[in-house]
Amino acid sequence: MNDKKKLARNQKDTNDDMINLVDNLNRDEDLKYNRRSFLKTAVGTSVALSVATIPFSVKAMLGMETDYNRVEIAKLEDIPEGDSVVFNYPNDNDPAILIHTVNGDLKAYNSACTHLMCPVFYEKTQDVLLCPCHKGYFDVSNGQPISGPPQRELPLIEIEVDNGIVYAVGRQYRHG
Ligand code: FES
Repeated sequence: MNDKKKLARNQKDTNDDMINLVDNLNRDEDLKYNRRSFLKTAVGTSVALSVATIPFSVKAMLGMETDYNRVEIAKLEDIPEGDSVVFNYPNDNDPAILIHTVNGDLKAYNSACTHLMCPVFYEKTQDVLLCPCHKGYFDVSNGQPISGPPQRELPLIEIEVDNGIVYAVGRQYRHG
């Protein structure tokens, strides 16, 4: 005898829960198909999301961010040693500062103080970044706080100099 179950009209011979749910004529089985379909969809979605976000997770672990534009900041000749210019990066609402230090280095950071967001400025006599609101001091060579209330470093803006023009090309958060 053929052990294949005789199918009722409009029933399909398949194990696909979504098809069974749509074609199901027996209301008692709705809950079974609904639950299975939901679980399969939920598991599939979470696996797909996990896989899709792996590259971003790896970059975040390495302190890298993604998709930055190359933005012109200033001509190098317009920033003598001991001077600085302000700009915005990566967006118009992210204030930043480019410093040509008294030692001739070029450094750039987002300039919102990591205490309460006041703008920091370059204090060339002490060769430090100073936040005037509560006297927070940052090391100009790496953006780390050195005294006062701030506990976290300033985000580092990566720069390039090309044909005498200084460009911002990326940003790094260096804390967890
Ligand atoms: S806001 Fe900069 S030290 Fe408080």
